[in-house]
Amino acid sequence: MHSEPYLLDPSPDGVHVLWHTGAPASGAVLLGGGRRVEATSSALVTLHDDDGVRATVHRHWAYVDGLGAGRTPYRIVSVLADGAVTGSREYSLAPAAPPGTNVRLLLSSDHQMWRMTPANIAKVAETVGVELDGVLFAGDMVGVPDRAADWFDHPTGRGFFASMTGRADTEIAGRRYRGAPLLQHAPLFPAIGNHEVMGRRARHRTLREKFDDPAPDAWDTASYEALFPVPAGPAGPRWWARTVGDVFVVALFVTRAWRDAVTTYTEPADRLGDPMGGQFLFERVDAGSPQYEWLAAELASPPARAAKFRVVLFHHASHGLGAHAVPAYTDPVPTDGGYAYPIEHDVVLRDLAPLFGSAGVDLVVNGHSHLWNRFRDPAGVNWLETSNVGNSYGAFPERGDPGGLTPVMPTVAPLTGPTGAPLPYVADNDITVFSVLDSAAGVVRSYRFDTRRPAEPALLFDELLLQ
Ligand SMILES: [Fe+2]
Repeated sequence: MHSEPYLLDPSPDGVHVLWHTGAPASGAVLLGGGRRVEATSSALVTLHDDDGVRATVHRHWAYVDGLGAGRTPYRIVSVLADGAVTGSREYSLAPAAPPGTNVRLLLSSDHQMWRMTPANIAKVAETVGVELDGVLFAGDMVGVPDRAADWFDHPTGRGFFASMTGRADTEIAGRRYRGAPLLQHAPLFPAIGNHEVMGRRARHRTLREKFDDPAPDAWDTASYEALFPVPAGPAGPRWWARTVGDVFVVALFVTRAWRDAVTTYTEPADRLGDPMGGQFLFERVDAGSPQYEWLAAELASPPARAAKFRVVLFHHASHGLGAHAVPAYTDPVPTDGGYAYPIEHDVVLRDLAPLFGSAGVDLVVNGHSHLWNRFRDPAGVNWLETSNVGNSYGAFPERGDPGGLTPVMPTVAPLTGPTGAPLPYVADNDITVFSVLDSAAGVVRSYRFDTRRPAEPALLFDELLLQ
């Protein structure tokens, strides 16, 4: 196994380059002009195969500095213990867009080896190219974070890095989709979803069982942190803030343990008495918590104030028509029959939304329900979920937004329902959606591609004006 490189956390004159091999190796980045930057190599100890055997995955991590403005060609090479040399194709890297310059950022999430993901990424490349300034990813990259195949060589042909590096292989309606080499040219700016959090390993045999059994005091993000060690904030990669050109971006760790079938405000009967306590929150983000206090300080900081736009990225959507917008994002309250999740305790709505409003946040990007929908709150904050990438879990317009907002109708070309009425969402297993923030125009453009009509290009269906 030899993965293509991916870029992380550009600085004013550098960028991190990472890749993996399936055997111990030394590695280096070769830059146009003949420069060579050696990588630091280490084994990733939490990745396993499905039989519970530790997968042999070695990470190579180089920080390329001293970069001038513009793009520099590069490739990577790895030298295995027996002297065999493997390498990548040539790509291009760049330092961070200087503060104040215009950028284009892909907004994506919830890939998880779903059927349409490679087509989605291929259409991104076809529509806006791969030389973007970044990919903002609102969580849920894979199914089980400790499973090496989910990242690299999943039998579906749709491992996370396969789709994001143009090595996927999936056929739909007679077309073969490979994804695109996005992360070789554009740095990934990730946030953690529930599928990046591992549960109690020692209690179970299979990786899926281990994943499915976190407890409030027994979970971790070790695999995620090893794969994406930067950007990092004061608590490491779990939350961070960066200025990307004229956009200030904050990523939060706002996701919780997923429990099957909890799609109402109360726990289903078969979970009654579960000592794990329902859908508990992983990391605190309520007012007064370290993550909240850090967020408040970041949003008040000079870089945040100076940026043209402020964007907050996190997995759980408390505004949404999707299946996973309920129950409310709060600690479960024990009741006679199980657990309740009072909407008035929703941490995102109660504590984060007012902070976003007062700090002038322009856009909140969420994931988790695998649909496209957006809202604008009375404080002027736009809430966008654009996670109908690989599949959908449906939309529930009759239930509505648990946060009480009316969805905004797509401005260009909404889909229509059975009666011909326009729909304020996309929740479809044949139509895949992606969104691109273009800061020069101050707009987020959303596109849809119907995989049943592969000859047609991706269609612009919504323009979200940020100002
Ligand atoms: Fe999720």
